[in-house]
Amino acid sequence: MIQRRTVLKTGAALTGTIGSAGLLVPAVASSAPAKAADLDPAAIAQFTQAMPVPKVLQPYSVSSTASYYRMTMKEADAQIVPGFTTRVRTFNGSFPGPLIKAVSNRRVVIQQTNQLGVPASVHLHGAHVPESSDGAPMDLVAAGGGTKTYTYPNSQPHANMWFHDHAHHYESETVYRGLTGFYLLTDPVEQRLPLPSGTYDVPIALSDAHFDDAGQLVYAMGDRLRTVLLTNGKAWPYFQVAARKYRLRLFNMSNMRFFTLKLSDGSVLQQIGSDGGLLEKPVEVTSVALSPGERADVVVDFSRYPAGTRLVLENTAPRRPDEPAEQIGKVLQFRIGAPAADSSSVPAALRTLPALGTATVNRSFELSMDETGATADSFINGKAYDMDRVDTEVEYGATEIWTVRNTNTRMPHNFHMHLVQFRVLERNGSPVTSGPESGLKDTVSLLPGETVKLQATFTGYEGTYVYHCHMFDHAAMGMMANFRVTRAAGAARR
Ligand code: C2O
Ligand code: CU
Ligand code: CU
Repeated sequence: MIQRRTVLKTGAALTGTIGSAGLLVPAVASSAPAKAADLDPAAIAQFTQAMPVPKVLQPYSVSSTASYYRMTMKEADAQIVPGFTTRVRTFNGSFPGPLIKAVSNRRVVIQQTNQLGVPASVHLHGAHVPESSDGAPMDLVAAGGGTKTYTYPNSQPHANMWFHDHAHHYESETVYRGLTGFYLLTDPVEQRLPLPSGTYDVPIALSDAHFDDAGQLVYAMGDRLRTVLLTNGKAWPYFQVAARKYRLRLFNMSNMRFFTLKLSDGSVLQQIGSDGGLLEKPVEVTSVALSPGERADVVVDFSRYPAGTRLVLENTAPRRPDEPAEQIGKVLQFRIGAPAADSSSVPAALRTLPALGTATVNRSFELSMDETGATADSFINGKAYDMDRVDTEVEYGATEIWTVRNTNTRMPHNFHMHLVQFRVLERNGSPVTSGPESGLKDTVSLLPGETVKLQATFTGYEGTYVYHCHMFDHAAMGMMANFRVTRAAGAARR
């Protein structure tokens, strides 16, 4: 209680009233008023806590071809909002999640034990893995001590991956409550570049949350009150940086929120990569858009600022009228310190992308949901997810073009495929030949009415995988489907 009063007092705009519990309850200017039992986001002091940097998890054993890890999924206490302790779901008690560093063509083997009270399925997002280790929605690790060993071959180029729960009908809440981790896969192509590295290469997870007045996370499907923005698990933290170049690997780990990130002085960021690793060449951007699940790899040169400068990473994504700009418009504060030696640079050529290949199959997919709010149903091609139904049969080795359209007029969606990294050929009829979407992608944004054309080649493994909207609340409501890759699919087609 004392802690709560302290937090409320430090808040900015205290135009509050005395609530039923005799405590100061700040007024909420919202069309969907918060319950009195909510913690008012406006009362949370911004930029007073340091942003944690994710910790690299060490393997318990290493062979010439593989690294072995153990992780326990369990609840833990985290300090997210100053003055409060919040119960979260974690891997190994880490919040933000642990960081695994992997190298292409060296296996990573993770034995997962689930000590949570709910089943879980661990999916490595962006990875090219056999079905048995994909963390499919129904391939569950039982609650209360179940175990499963996941093997990741890493037989793919470098990529900015992450892992998270995917247990159908649990994933939305469990991911929201924290069950996520970072997985940076590197390879010689990336390693030989002189990019900022070591402590100057920082993974940053973005998410959002809704707290009750005891500082506990409130979860409700489709909740519109997740207006506390978390960066690496802290509400509106600051990050102390040296006046030099940093590589910031941004991950949108939120369930539903679209971010458009820019620096408060409007200055340029160099985007060097996206989901599936580096772009062919860096692109200068003033903002970075990230739908849920997407990643952006950017280099920011803080040497252009005098020591003592404070700069805010802002979110300029369209806001609903009931979302205060003071909250969802601000993400993270950079505090620029003294200069530090910097031999890093961003080369004009970063990598060569794999050849596109010739597509032999065209398919189309329509994403839709009831926007009236009358039902919660969400669909792909008019059907809600059925774990027992195979929606799309793909011939092993085939290269296909998938045209995906968001048929909704108000609701944004996005589209994520397991197993493959794809290329975005077109957005709304315009070819994508350069810029942030020109690299390898596994998740692509679809604003209302938008259409994208994607190309993927289905090699490596036969098996059944999912594709879905990565707004987890939508996937849980049915916006997900199965594709099955088999050699037999080709024979059937011919
Ligand atoms: Cu990141 Cu199927 O998900
Ligand atoms: Cu995935
Ligand atoms: Cu969606």
